[in-house]
Amino acid sequence: MKYKEIFMRRALQLAKNGLGMTSPNPMVGCVIERNGVILSEGWHYKKRMLHAEALTINNIKNKYLFFDCTLYVTLEPCVHFGETPPCVDLIIRNNIPRVVVGIQDPCDKVKGLGIQKLRKYGIEVIENVLINECRFLNKRFFTFYEKKRPYIILKWAQSDDGFIYSYSENKKDNWISGIHARQLNHKWRSEEDSVLVGRKTVLNDNPKLNVRKWFGINPIRIFIDKKLSISNSHFILDGSQHTIVFTEKYKKNTENIEYIQISFEKKIINQILNFLYKKKILSLIVEGGKKTLESFIKENVWDESRVFICDVLLKSGLKAPEIDGIFYKKINIDKDQLKVFNLR
Ligand SMILES: NC(=O)c1ccc[n+]([C@@H]2O[C@H](COP(=O)([O-])OP(=O)(O)OC[C@H]3O[C@@H](n4cnc5c(N)ncnc54)[C@H](OP(=O)(O)O)[C@@H]3O)[C@@H](O)[C@H]2O)c1
Repeated sequence: MKYKEIFMRRALQLAKNGLGMTSPNPMVGCVIERNGVILSEGWHYKKRMLHAEALTINNIKNKYLFFDCTLYVTLEPCVHFGETPPCVDLIIRNNIPRVVVGIQDPCDKVKGLGIQKLRKYGIEVIENVLINECRFLNKRFFTFYEKKRPYIILKWAQSDDGFIYSYSENKKDNWISGIHARQLNHKWRSEEDSVLVGRKTVLNDNPKLNVRKWFGINPIRIFIDKKLSISNSHFILDGSQHTIVFTEKYKKNTENIEYIQISFEKKIINQILNFLYKKKILSLIVEGGKKTLESFIKENVWDESRVFICDVLLKSGLKAPEIDGIFYKKINIDKDQLKVFNLR
């Protein structure tokens, strides 16, 4: 491995600690190295908290050490005042002579300006070290700024014979996947900003859509209910978690529930995604049912699909959606198989 890549890999490792915590900010990791030794390291823990660079620089009390140090950071340092002052200014003030950047920040307020300012002050900047890994780390953040919509994951579980739901009366419960697949799904919820389901899924399954079998922040719950037919007795309207209902009717918001009026004459998915973009919601996991998943597939607005092929036969029921993506990976989760596809 090349010298610079060793330290960038460590910065990437650190950045991943922020998964599910930093949105709408990106995950960022940082390392300060001198003569092959790491003097300080850090990552962006959570939105509104210090950026990775500030945390890493502040850890070093003896500022004279900086004179021949290199700072490695997975994403271009910010140059604007947000909730914290610009990291670029901190690097300049501390006379750090060299900065290695994983990838340019895609957001308009930065987009190369951070690197430009560092160079203007005589700092050597080496760009694009492990660029693909740094981009993948922040796939949600890059999709949001480049496509002006959240990063979208379609998720469902289907029986080995291709059904997502059985109409049979005597099924024990609605679960098709095993407990480990379900636990993994809770982990996924903790990683995304929002989770969306259709009206019939709310009606048939009464899902809580929270993070119970893992730890982390609950996603914002979203569902489509044209006529506001779902009663308050359903978990999704219990107010325990921020919830957004897309509807054609007017209803006053309550403490944790927002009712957003949209036109059902126009493309619904576009209206939903535009709203989420304006709210700075970086990612969305769509958990069914069939009609809802298929509306995203039809519009070709998704980035990743995660499909559990489960160790049960339903023989009849609601057919699973069909998706044409690029096969990415296959993992066995207990008796179930997870297949992941990316958009072509
Ligand atoms: N195995 C799994 O992974 C899994 C996951 C989730 C759900 N499910 C199963 O799937 C079943 C439900 O699937 P489903 O296809 O019947 O229903 P669904 O997708 O849950 O809900 C469909 C309803 O949501 C609204 N909706 C969704 N997308 C819309 C769009 N683009 N435009 C307008 N309205 C939209 C409509 O409500 P209106 O009728 O009010 O217009 C539509 O009838 C459930 O029984 C559930 O158990 C399985």
